Amino acid sequence: MSPTQKALFLNKKFGDLVVEDAPIYKPGPGEILIKIKATSLNPVDWKIQKYGIFIEEYPAILGGDIAGDVEELGEGVDEFRKGDRVFVHGQFVNDRSSFQQYTLALASATARIPPSVSYEQASTLPVVLTVSYVGLYNENPHGFGLTAPVSEETQGIYGGTPIVVLGGASSVGQIVIQLARLSGFSPIITTASLKHTDNLKSLGATAVFDRDLPASELVKEIKKLTNEPIKFVYDSISSNITQETGVELLAPGGQLATVLPVTAKVDKDKSAWLILGMPRLPHNIELVETLYHDKIAGFLEKGIIKPNKVEVLPNGLAGVPDGLARMEADKISGLKLVARPQENL
Ligand SMILES: NC(=O)c1ccc[n+]([C@@H]2O[C@H](COP(=O)([O-])OP(=O)(O)OC[C@H]3O[C@@H](n4cnc5c(N)ncnc54)[C@H](OP(=O)(O)O)[C@@H]3O)[C@@H](O)[C@H]2O)c1
Repeated sequence: MSPTQKALFLNKKFGDLVVEDAPIYKPGPGEILIKIKATSLNPVDWKIQKYGIFIEEYPAILGGDIAGDVEELGEGVDEFRKGDRVFVHGQFVNDRSSFQQYTLALASATARIPPSVSYEQASTLPVVLTVSYVGLYNENPHGFGLTAPVSEETQGIYGGTPIVVLGGASSVGQIVIQLARLSGFSPIITTASLKHTDNLKSLGATAVFDRDLPASELVKEIKKLTNEPIKFVYDSISSNITQETGVELLAPGGQLATVLPVTAKVDKDKSAWLILGMPRLPHNIELVETLYHDKIAGFLEKGIIKPNKVEVLPNGLAGVPDGLARMEADKISGLKLVARPQENL
């Protein structure tokens, strides 16, 4: 009999999340098998259950954020060893997702976890890191088309260029702010509940405005902060209201990045792009693999990128549904919920 593991299955479209047995997969050429030590939860996980989006084959294993140990190497993988601590962005396919004890990943898209970073911290990164990075550095219409900060020559090159990050305390927003700092943007202006101000300033924000200010006042106050035209607004919330604010903030020729479908009316002389942070979309592969395979461990080691704060959920995989319910109820503020799939089975 082939070996089995525990996985959290969404048993059918709009169905229930239940812990059941699943096979342990065999890595093919270029792949690794990862024993998952930590996975974080994302809004998309409850949205898939509630709205039936993205997934057609059920029962389905959800979860995109994988951190753990290399368990087995597929043919041709020579850059990792069994036991290496790694993290990677999963996919919406059962043998590549994270709400389970073991999963497969491509070695070419996998990152090492530096010693200073825990599995839980690393697991907060992939989904929000990919959408942040793609939104800033992929070409139009997939992102702003900025130069990625992959070398000393390409870091800090946007000095004097303002950027606005709407929703800086969201998990996406926190990463966008840090990447904007690495690219040299200034000022980096954000909106959030003001209790997050100190943390967001420590990540690189130069000004934090109350997320509840009326849009017209917010636009007036932000425009006072810079004489330069605002050409880049990253809307990490993307409600209709935040998108409209983003469009209004932009100077002619400016670009708005959204994380949900564009619903705002966009003036003819401005652009709005829906950013899809899926690592295996053909236009994302090279950018994302370079980031994960070659760069992100160094950024973490040097403290250039700090993972979001963590709250560990009780009861391993069985604790995930309660966490998703809290996310859906908008009860998560400035942190990531993390589950440990090896616990309590
Ligand atoms: N397109 C993609 O590939 C992609 C990838 C990842 C995520 N997403 C989407 O991006 C969105 C954010 O995801 P996430 O993981 O970053 O969420 P999250 O961390 O759970 O977001 C919660 C945070 O958002 C803040 N917030 C909520 N409404 C706000 C507003 N109007 N203005 C400013 N801040 C606000 C909350 O602030 P308080 O602390 O004040 O409550 C809270 O800190 C979700 O809709 C998600 O589905 C899309």
